Amino acid sequence: MTASIAPTASIASTALSGRTALVTGGSRGIGRAVARRLAAEGALVAVHYGSGKEAADETVALINEAGGRAFPVGADFAAADAADRLFGQLAAGLGERGLDILVGNAGIASTSPIAAVTEEEFDRLFTINVRTPFLVTRRAIPLLNDGGRIVTIASTATRVAVSTQIAYTMAKAALESMTPSLANELGGRGITVNTVAPGVIRTDMTAGHTAVPEAAAQLAAITALGRLGEPEDVARTVAFLAGPDGAYVTGQRIDVCGGLWLGPIIPGQ
Ligand SMILES: NC(=O)c1ccc[n+]([C@@H]2O[C@H](COP(=O)([O-])OP(=O)(O)OC[C@H]3O[C@@H](n4cnc5c(N)ncnc54)[C@H](OP(=O)(O)O)[C@@H]3O)[C@@H](O)[C@H]2O)c1
Repeated sequence: MTASIAPTASIASTALSGRTALVTGGSRGIGRAVARRLAAEGALVAVHYGSGKEAADETVALINEAGGRAFPVGADFAAADAADRLFGQLAAGLGERGLDILVGNAGIASTSPIAAVTEEEFDRLFTINVRTPFLVTRRAIPLLNDGGRIVTIASTATRVAVSTQIAYTMAKAALESMTPSLANELGGRGITVNTVAPGVIRTDMTAGHTAVPEAAAQLAAITALGRLGEPEDVARTVAFLAGPDGAYVTGQRIDVCGGLWLGPIIPGQ
């Protein structure tokens, strides 16, 4: 199910005007907010989806209505030829232009404790959340213009113990570990590489918890800012890293989590 649609954002700035961006998983949730934000700042955005073309078309329509430019690209990250399919469509959409911004956001969740994680689930998680994102990043590097940006969406799950997310956490840790090496490798071209790690953000992925008032209240109670995150909270940080103001930030991980699980929150202290 697609999360509710925020009011149409209009073109806000021209910080990314003339830039191009690929947002994997840009059709829904965090990716949709990122795609809309980058487009609102002037970028031409390729909105990737896995199987939900309708949601990607909706995101593209929202961007167009706001005066931005975007086009959909579809590729199931579980498929062996995902990168070929994605980059074929990307090349058609970009024409002669290179790529300036890659946001690696597409991913799936897992909510099984170790005893319940089947080999099939483990392999699927690592294919969609690690293997294909690695192949997509590798394919994007030669297309990236000097001064480009790579932002990978991992998770704050890697810094806390959540036994029901063990395989998901392992996959996100593997994904995140690309960032420092790539930052070193690409720094000479002025390309920055960073990880953004969201906390609990209200999307379809987390609706099983966040739509239950008691569960949402428990999560908010262990968050310094006292509320769960919205996709736009993450999109603002991605836009900072993708834009001119983020030019000297590379090889870093930024948690966008409202201060999730920093320690006991004691009222009055
Ligand atoms: N929400 C959170 O609290 C949270 C916290 C930490 C990290 N994250 C990470 O943030 C990213 C986005 O999460 P979200 O909450 O926005 O998720 P979401 O609402 O479920 O959206 C997931 C996106 O990934 C795409 N996707 C899923 N399976 C795919 C596949 N097999 N092949 C290609 N694309 C696929 C979806 O496209 P289709 O619908 O077309 O498949 C959709 O665009 C994920 O990497 C997630 O792990 C989320």
